[in-house]
Amino acid sequence: MLKTHTCGELSRQNVGQTVTLAGWLHRRRDHGGLIFIDLRDRFGLTQVTVGSDAAPAVLEAASQARSEYVLQVTGVVQARPAGFENPNLSTGEIEVIADNIVILNPAKTPPIYISGATDDIDESLRLKYRYLDIRRPRMTQNLILRHNIVRFIREFLSARNFLEIETPILLKSTPEGARDFVVPSRLHPHEFYALPQSPQQLKQLLMVAGIERYFQIARCFRDEDLRADRQPEFTQLDLEMSFVDASDIRALIEGMIIELCGMLKAKPIQKVPFPVITYAEAMEKYGIDRPDLRFGLQLFNVSQLVSTSGFAVFKNAVEAGGQVKGVVYPGAANGPRRDIDELTEFVKQYGAKGLAWIGVTGAPAADGTYPAEALRSQVTKFLTPEEISGIITASGAQVGDLILLVADKPSVVAQSLYNLRLEIGRRANLIDNSVLAFCWVVDFPLLEYNDEEKRWQAVHHPFTSARDQDWEKLESDPGSVLAKAYDVVMNGWEVGGGSIRIHRSDLQDRLFAVLGLKREEVQAQFGHLLEAFQYGAPPHGGIALGIDRLTALFAEVTSIREVIAFPKTAAGTDLMVDAPSPVTEAQLQELHIALRQRKGK
Ligand code: AMO
Ligand code: AMP
Repeated sequence: MLKTHTCGELSRQNVGQTVTLAGWLHRRRDHGGLIFIDLRDRFGLTQVTVGSDAAPAVLEAASQARSEYVLQVTGVVQARPAGFENPNLSTGEIEVIADNIVILNPAKTPPIYISGATDDIDESLRLKYRYLDIRRPRMTQNLILRHNIVRFIREFLSARNFLEIETPILLKSTPEGARDFVVPSRLHPHEFYALPQSPQQLKQLLMVAGIERYFQIARCFRDEDLRADRQPEFTQLDLEMSFVDASDIRALIEGMIIELCGMLKAKPIQKVPFPVITYAEAMEKYGIDRPDLRFGLQLFNVSQLVSTSGFAVFKNAVEAGGQVKGVVYPGAANGPRRDIDELTEFVKQYGAKGLAWIGVTGAPAADGTYPAEALRSQVTKFLTPEEISGIITASGAQVGDLILLVADKPSVVAQSLYNLRLEIGRRANLIDNSVLAFCWVVDFPLLEYNDEEKRWQAVHHPFTSARDQDWEKLESDPGSVLAKAYDVVMNGWEVGGGSIRIHRSDLQDRLFAVLGLKREEVQAQFGHLLEAFQYGAPPHGGIALGIDRLTALFAEVTSIREVIAFPKTAAGTDLMVDAPSPVTEAQLQELHIALRQRKGK
């Protein structure tokens, strides 16, 4: 080794020892006679001191060295003079008095500021120079955290008899609801592999193979629209078990997450065991199937109450099969009008046509109705006193609170109020940041109707089983069938999802039929699975956790790009290596590919 110690380990106990360190010049301060160099490696920072009495060659090297030069320093460890210790640094009690400095490699001035505390660096620059970005201690820490999480998971599952098994990347389409990335084949003209959206079918086949307990830290590929919590390739803890029901999988994963939080010394978990919420309840109370339970502000529903209202906006929405629901903004009854206008614009982004508001500025009269001066609103004039007090009671609003209501079709109401609830949580500082709030969401619908394509499609994936009692309704009332599916949610992020699978080919056939797949399509796409099910498939189920999302939540960052070494941009490109990029004509020839004219060119 070119070093005897790391830059993070020397302490008072090493005083008097001669050591050799190697790393990058993090910061350099020249005090005339005295030069201080903070030398950095992955493990920390050590202060190197070059006195005016140092050998000329040492002085020369110390004067020449600049930020991010790679240095090797030999010297004697010395206690820092009293008053010069740095309690924020693990090596803050000592310094190394340099006897020799070797410049192993000079460096150009880095395009991003590595030693700065600020995170305010243009992200495209960070991605282009990711190898420099990762030198920043905060990024290094994120990668260390990720490693620790993955290592913990491997050990936890291995100790419970799980086998880690790799499955192919060059494969056939395994649908999870996104588009496939396809790969052309030189040896098979006009045929393509697809990259797996998840190892779903393979892990089910491993159950047929008798593996019983499988896991994989699996790379998945999905060509979908990207967001802060989505990448085109990402990593799952993928897991499958035989002879289990949903509660077994949930207990295993819940236990693993609780131990993981302990290992990471993470914030306390809000509630153990994790609350279990049905999909219907989550949609009703939070407008989303991944509620953030770190604060209250549940939505309330007054559709029934206003179904015959004189306020046409409310009545018409309910008549058309829609809903009128709302959320309370605590303490905002007398807030500036500008805030209400802002929130109105805010919900319009999610399709709402408007936002009705009622500020409860005073107490009700003895008979429970609210006098005009106790209300601040533009809509109460259209409502009866009973409707007004009914809405206020249903909302749970207190004097001083502002009630916000949206009337529309259920999907728009849900989207608007889900986002509005979060926005109020942020604005009013209601989100309890001192805890981690986990929950399970269960009883998802098995199928949803795709209005554009006029057909039923799987909510999760087409291998998920219906609840036993619901199979009989599959053909007659597909929309009412609930699935043996479960998601695990952390602070409002979906970190994992799974299900008990269909393991009988007759049931799988029936589901494919309801999905409108023709026999030949089923045979071409899933024939292998259906055939396998005829050779003794055990009952089985599993789950996949998003490793990127899990790590991002523990790292308390808002984008999974922060915990991926080399992520793609929101446009799906890699700025460092410049991908995707054109290939040569020769490569295309070999792959039997002719490019079409680009649209609009
Ligand atoms: P699902 O599609 O719910 O289930 O994915 C499981 C988990 O993977 C994470 N995830 C993503 N993370 C980053 N970028 C993405 N584009 C992305 N898409 C999904 C999420 C999600 O909860 N085969 C099933 C699992 C099963 O049934 O066992 C599956 O893939 O955290
Ligand atoms: P209008 O009668 O259109 O001026 O609307 C009166 C109030 O109702 C305004 O505050 C609107 O923002 C609100 N409003 C309009 N449409 C809706 C809707 N679909 N849901 C909730 N409030 C609405």
